[in-house]
Amino acid sequence: MTLIFKSNVDSWPAWRTALEDAAPDVPCRNWDDPGDDAAVEYALVWKPPVGELRRRFPNLKTIFSLGAGVDHLLVDPDLPAGIPIVRMVEPELTRGMVEYVALHVLRYHRETPLLEDQQRRREWREMATPTAPKRRVGIMGLGVIGQDCLRVLSALGFALSGWSRTAKDISGVTCHHGRDGLANFLTEVEILVCVLPYTAATENILNRDLFAQLPRGAYLINVGRGGLQDEDDILAALDSGQLAGATLDVFRQEPLPEDHAFWAHPNVTVTPHNAGTAQPWSAAGAVAANIERIRRGDAPLNIADLSEGY
Ligand code: GLV
Repeated sequence: MTLIFKSNVDSWPAWRTALEDAAPDVPCRNWDDPGDDAAVEYALVWKPPVGELRRRFPNLKTIFSLGAGVDHLLVDPDLPAGIPIVRMVEPELTRGMVEYVALHVLRYHRETPLLEDQQRRREWREMATPTAPKRRVGIMGLGVIGQDCLRVLSALGFALSGWSRTAKDISGVTCHHGRDGLANFLTEVEILVCVLPYTAATENILNRDLFAQLPRGAYLINVGRGGLQDEDDILAALDSGQLAGATLDVFRQEPLPEDHAFWAHPNVTVTPHNAGTAQPWSAAGAVAANIERIRRGDAPLNIADLSEGY
């Protein structure tokens, strides 16, 4: 009943300590460490090598994603069939995403890039600054992370809109849903935050048609996945002034290629896919609780719905 761990991003020593604490009776092993692969029942992974889960672990019972998204697993055409894939839902990953979103929404709201530019030019230009109730922020994706972003932005006083695949009713938020609801959602959104999962239905949703429906000079913050965004369309919208700025934590190709135009664009902020990360000291508890459920014969919580792709 071993758990196998694989990630090039997350710290194995930190996870090992946390797992030993949270699930002392589940032996844990790092991907390349020697051991009996037939004993492996659980895999806790981020971007495992394609084909390897099925090839190496014949008795795998559950795949736990180290990320909230499971698209990094679904790219594997040889994924073991018939076993659940569990999304990472844990408070500290959510908190990281919320911190990032709050930081960058406030940065745009308070015109910080402009002020920093003025400072570089030693230019003192006093101006009145509107407060949050006069600024509409729109969140695309109203799952656990999107709703927690709304909670914090609401405490800051922002005017809030939300868009999701299925209808949602969130107090204090103007909610829209479905492709038919997109145009109405976009018309008043000055800062657009995308936390959508990457699926066949959301691929390239952040494209020129969508940007054209935002008020001129809107800002984009994408913390979902790179596959959601058409990167040439973002550059064109920035260059035409339709978008005033973009803060991107995710890219079609990661690491972002060295010659990509985003790196040096004056109105783009690039971060290396680090908005939110599962924290072992907190997330190991969620994994351990799910293993406990499986051993009791119950289904784990937060199983990805493969028919929807997330
Ligand atoms: C990170 O990208 C995640 O899916 O949590």
